[in-house]
Amino acid sequence: MDDDLAAGSCILADAQDEVADGIDRLFEQLLTVPDDPRERLYRAMRHAAIAGGKRLRPLLVRAAGDLFHIDRTPSLRVGAAVEAMHVYSLIHDDLPCMDDDDMRRGKPTVHRAFDEATAVLAGDSLHALAFEWLIDPATHADPFVRAELVQELARASGPAGMAGGQMMDLAAETANFDLRTVTRLQQLKTGALIGFSVEAGAILARIPAEGRLPLRGYARDIGLAFQIADDIMDVEGDEALAGKALHKDDAAGKATFVTLMGLERARDQATALVEQATAHLAGFGEEAALLRAIARYVVERDR
Ligand code: IPE
Ligand code: IPE
Ligand code: MG
Ligand code: MG
Ligand code: MG
Repeated sequence: MDDDLAAGSCILADAQDEVADGIDRLFEQLLTVPDDPRERLYRAMRHAAIAGGKRLRPLLVRAAGDLFHIDRTPSLRVGAAVEAMHVYSLIHDDLPCMDDDDMRRGKPTVHRAFDEATAVLAGDSLHALAFEWLIDPATHADPFVRAELVQELARASGPAGMAGGQMMDLAAETANFDLRTVTRLQQLKTGALIGFSVEAGAILARIPAEGRLPLRGYARDIGLAFQIADDIMDVEGDEALAGKALHKDDAAGKATFVTLMGLERARDQATALVEQATAHLAGFGEEAALLRAIARYVVERDR
């Protein structure tokens, strides 16, 4: 490993630990269990949200915030909001009416550990809390910044983003989607929240739209690379490491990057996207080291 790569993995490991710790601590505070009949709902949210996952989206908020020397406290709060949105999407994705999965992040899924109705409500609640946390003055003193964060997260999670992508993903089981359509599907399903996470750093720093172009290019490329890696992992990953059931896409007859391109081309494509993502950051110096390390991580990860 050359020196830059070694330094990059050090920066990444430190930031991952710190973000994972910070997000857990924030969720502990924000999801305190009340002593009333909603206790089960809070326990279900905590089961899904605390101590689990790679925390990629909060890590991206922090890395993009670092570019503009944003304080860590607001970027952690925005990270918690986007992670809450992501966790809600996972809870609902695992439901019997969707992917019908029993394991997530190495633990039973929420509808397994609790019940279906509780899982639906835990997802609904995390979705609402994400916006409540963003609009709280503790996130940023400027109400225009908070409003933009809310607007962008709404866009990224709704029908023009994650939920729309999930609809296309269900359709992919029966339709014969071509590569263009699968790319669009993945950009919505996974790319939109990743895009929000990166953009949030620029929003917090009040960077005007034209200054955000390199970041948008970076986010688009790592979003796709991330989903290609997820599709490759579905074929040849290790369930114990992934903490979830694999080999489901093929069984469902779903068009993915791997079914359309084959494993080898999918791998090459992911590597090319990482290089392209890094090229978008050419105008930045050392302050983009974490973003560069994350770009490599999204395809090299084993979980
Ligand atoms: C899994 O997301 C679902 C997809 C969008 C492919 P992650 O791979 O980020 O899951 P966690 O957060 O680490 O559990
Ligand atoms: C889930 O995609 C994506 C969202 C929840 C938005 P997948 O169904 O491919 O994710 P896994 O493989 O269950 O983590
Ligand atoms: Mg799914
Ligand atoms: Mg799934
Ligand atoms: Mg998958």
